[in-house]
Amino acid sequence: MTYSREISQPIFDRALEVLVKGVSSNFRYLGEKQTPVISKGKGARIWDADGNEFIDYRLGWGPIILGHADDRVNHAVSEHLDNGTTFAATTELEVIVAEKLVKMIPSMEKLRFTNTGTEATMHALRTARGYSNKEKFIKFEGQYHGAHDYVLFSTASSSVSAMGSRTSPIPVQVGSGIPNKIRDYVFCLPFNDFDAVEKCVKDHHGELGAMLVEPCLGNITGIEPKDGFLQHLRSLCDKYNIVLIFDEVKTGFRLSNGGARETYGVIPDISTYAKSLGNGLPVAAFGGRSEIMDVIGGGSVTHAGTFGANGISMAAANAVLDILSESPVLKNLSERGTRLKNGLDQILTDADLPHQMCGHPNIQGFLITDKKVEEVRDLAHSNDDLYESIMNNMYDRGIWIENDPREPWFLCEAHTDEVIDHTLNIFEESVKASLK
Ligand SMILES: Cc1ncc(COP(=O)(O)O)c(C=O)c1O
Repeated sequence: MTYSREISQPIFDRALEVLVKGVSSNFRYLGEKQTPVISKGKGARIWDADGNEFIDYRLGWGPIILGHADDRVNHAVSEHLDNGTTFAATTELEVIVAEKLVKMIPSMEKLRFTNTGTEATMHALRTARGYSNKEKFIKFEGQYHGAHDYVLFSTASSSVSAMGSRTSPIPVQVGSGIPNKIRDYVFCLPFNDFDAVEKCVKDHHGELGAMLVEPCLGNITGIEPKDGFLQHLRSLCDKYNIVLIFDEVKTGFRLSNGGARETYGVIPDISTYAKSLGNGLPVAAFGGRSEIMDVIGGGSVTHAGTFGANGISMAAANAVLDILSESPVLKNLSERGTRLKNGLDQILTDADLPHQMCGHPNIQGFLITDKKVEEVRDLAHSNDDLYESIMNNMYDRGIWIENDPREPWFLCEAHTDEVIDHTLNIFEESVKASLK
């Protein structure tokens, strides 16, 4: 099926005139005649400008945890609008949301609000450097931590073949415009490699201020940490006085109410949150141990932002946190996600396709390969063309999943049992159509 673009295309043609590549974020551009123009979303569904309807598993790349245009969140935001939004001053609502976060996230002591995940990881890294008085940091290959210069190395978009050997990995700069010298501040290591991280820490601990890690690879098919890997990072950081930062921008308020810290039982020094916290409204936070967070301010470490903790994002976050704590949204999601995962697994097995299921049920994916998948380098073996063909067939049948296997499938509360059943039926048809 080819969707009508009678209305979408003229809008996108206008977009190309005034927005660079017609989009507001590089990753959204799918081509001059292919980039969708979306007009609305409700629950698990979205509609393009021509009225074509899709079940959505991209969910804005993660933030939609309850469903698009959730009535409860919309009500909270619209009620708050009359109070005004931005005062360059503390509000009680901001205190209430911070209190809820401290209660909900294990061992969270103090935090600050920002607007985006990028700002949260940028400030978390600066805070760790300001506290430790050491400038370099470790990140893991395939992990994306936002669009600020320090972290744009060896991300999900980087070519695996440019990353060098596992024993001597090369930090791959993502695009032009990033000062070359910044590369000297980062070590990019393979995820789930106990020895590589131990060696790097032992060799460089005198200059390593922070270790920044997505607890599961939210930008690489949701690959989870091997048993003991996060504990290993924790004990190395303890031993060598390095600040452990969990980037929970994708995992926070998605894996469980307390995020990956709770799910995997490892407490970092600082973690960062964004996406699900606002169910689509721009709100983010970073926080952790008071001893570290207290280096912020008073002429010491800088954290600032005009729109931080604005009334609209606080009203949205307040509603999301109440909904998550009053009913077992994420637990139910995980049950439905498990059913989806098992169903996909069975269909792929029935079709005789070698595959690896990856990720937590609430942020999952799979790769078409017979090789075990533990980190980004393993993607070199996956049959991405077949994956893309299956997802294109799903898209043609009204279910939108990223056709690049690196981006996981996201679930939200509005993905009901009925939606999951329908998805599995369409998936089976799409696999068959792709193998014809
Ligand atoms: C793990 C992670 N950290 C940080 C970011 C950056 O967040 P934002 O796009 O809100 O700046 C992202 C965005 O996808 C992410 O996946």
